[in-house]
Amino acid sequence: MNQARGEWSSKFGFILAAAGSAIGLGNIWGFPIQTAKNGGAAFVFVYLLLTFIVCFPVVMTEIAIGRRTSKNPVGAFKELVPKTQWSLVGKLGVLCGFMILSFYIVIAGWVFGYFVEVTGGGLQRLATDGEFGIFVGNPYKNLLYTGLFMLATIGIVVGGIKNGIERWARLLMPTLLLMLGALIIYVMTLENAGKGLAFYLIPDFSKITVPVVNSALSQAFFSLSLGMGALITYGSYVSKKDDIISSGFIVTVLDSSIALLAGLLIIPAIFTLAPNTTADTIQAGPGLIFVFLPKVFMNLASDVGYFFASFLAAFFFLLISFAALTSTISLLEVPTSYVVDEKKIVRKRAAILTGGVIFIIAIGSMLANGASDFFTHFITYPSGSDKDFLSFVGDVFFEMCLPLGGFLLSAFAAFRWKTQNLREEIAQGRENYIGSILDKWISFIIYLCPFIIFFIFINTVLAKFFDIVLF
Ligand code: PHE
Repeated sequence: MNQARGEWSSKFGFILAAAGSAIGLGNIWGFPIQTAKNGGAAFVFVYLLLTFIVCFPVVMTEIAIGRRTSKNPVGAFKELVPKTQWSLVGKLGVLCGFMILSFYIVIAGWVFGYFVEVTGGGLQRLATDGEFGIFVGNPYKNLLYTGLFMLATIGIVVGGIKNGIERWARLLMPTLLLMLGALIIYVMTLENAGKGLAFYLIPDFSKITVPVVNSALSQAFFSLSLGMGALITYGSYVSKKDDIISSGFIVTVLDSSIALLAGLLIIPAIFTLAPNTTADTIQAGPGLIFVFLPKVFMNLASDVGYFFASFLAAFFFLLISFAALTSTISLLEVPTSYVVDEKKIVRKRAAILTGGVIFIIAIGSMLANGASDFFTHFITYPSGSDKDFLSFVGDVFFEMCLPLGGFLLSAFAAFRWKTQNLREEIAQGRENYIGSILDKWISFIIYLCPFIIFFIFINTVLAKFFDIVLF
């Protein structure tokens, strides 16, 4: 093991950091939006199915490639299959990390901004209709909050593996879980919550259409930090003695649990606080948590007082900010480790350089919600839909490139690297793996994954950009 690159302090350390990467805005901000948009429980059902059947083997592939090579995604492919074009898959991953971070950090900035504004006494204002639009349309606030978030991210990535990333994840993830649980219990006591619960938990299978499956796959990839080499990078710091199957499984379960909990909080909250909501009229846009969380806390204020409700709201937005931070760290870690390993630049300079360039690209997303006409109406797809810069970057790099990366990774594992190598790597640190049921299952499904993912990928591209639904 290459000690100079650093290594997690323990298996638990890796699990925490990988879960920290996985759990973030994708779960708390994205999952409820996708669920509301795609018919509720039917979406949740498809999402879980794809997570465990298709994504989990890809999770294992990424961790195994990372640990085998102790390299960043580009270096890893170069080492496994030298002098081939496969390192382009790693490069695509680095580019995805770059571009996803450029919009992700803007949304993280909004969350952090809500923390600051609630702390300053603004809860009541933020719970007013239309306030979210005013907030995101303000270019100075965007610049300030995104800038602060980027500084924090760079600072922690500079700190290196053990002291930076791991320490934060250890402290904050459990607190987030507790707070989510408490809020769900509160929302369940409110009127109409049952209607939301039914929409969220009782699937109407006729709602499962191709676009629903597409969204579920993209969402699962995004939520698990999959398809761009984040787990290759984190896997590269895992000790050969650790059992990566159980680590990968725990991370997958934790990630989907937090997504499910976030949905359990937000979806019933919508039905409670916008009482005319039905399955067909349910709101679903980027503002979802920003509109409804302040309303939940304002409601709470009538029971516990404005001051205490504001305190809780501030604390909750702070926790979401931290969940986002452990994800932005991993998004920055991918291009940074690439620059460190491949371009031989010291970690500190590499992190500042990449973070700085990403921040400049992020300006487009900061101005995409009304502040600048150019970025707000950035592009019109052949399908006719008009997209702002932030949504455009999201469509290309989150909805399209992550599944593409997942397809290439699973195709690589199945047909180029060969499953025998994958199996051997997984077996290190786990006795009796070869020949077990799990081994048979992963070895089998990894051949199917490229086909399933490719099929869904093609449909996503056609539907998203050209409004063509094949099936
Ligand atoms: N998984 C993170 C989330 O759900 C986002 C992310 C995607 C992080 C890809 C790293 C890589 O918020």
